[in-house]
Amino acid sequence: MKVAIGCDHGGLHLKEEIKALLLTLGHEVEDFGTYSTESCDYPDIAVPVSRAVVDGQAERGILICGTGIGIGIAANKIDGIRAALCHDTFSAHASREHNDANVLTLGERVIGVGLAKDIVTIWMATEFEGGRHERRVEKIMTLEK
Ligand code: RB5
Repeated sequence: MKVAIGCDHGGLHLKEEIKALLLTLGHEVEDFGTYSTESCDYPDIAVPVSRAVVDGQAERGILICGTGIGIGIAANKIDGIRAALCHDTFSAHASREHNDANVLTLGERVIGVGLAKDIVTIWMATEFEGGRHERRVEKIMTLEK
């Protein structure tokens, strides 16, 4: 799968770990930065990653900041994005199966690398269940119109 990835300075280290994992899992990764620990603003990264997903340049997006919160709030402002902050494997699974989340957000300052990798592995491997969940997701997407 093609994955757009991005982070602010608070998520740089975890982004590198997740990038390596995605490549190991056989995915293609486009990195939208940031590329250094110099302070930057997470909306500036959330927007291009989200647009890449909405435009079909990438099938999924992964965004990382210190908490995963700010970058996710920004991503969810872009029409077509369903960004989910997941710091446990159950939520990672459910966000795909029930919510068809197309962006995963993570907080480098909140969880360890091992758990983050498990979350990403599950999130990438889980399909949307459809059915009753489809109707609910459609109702969310209608809110954008
Ligand atoms: C940056 O210091 C920090 O505010 C950011 O990474 C993120 O946690 C915001 O939600």
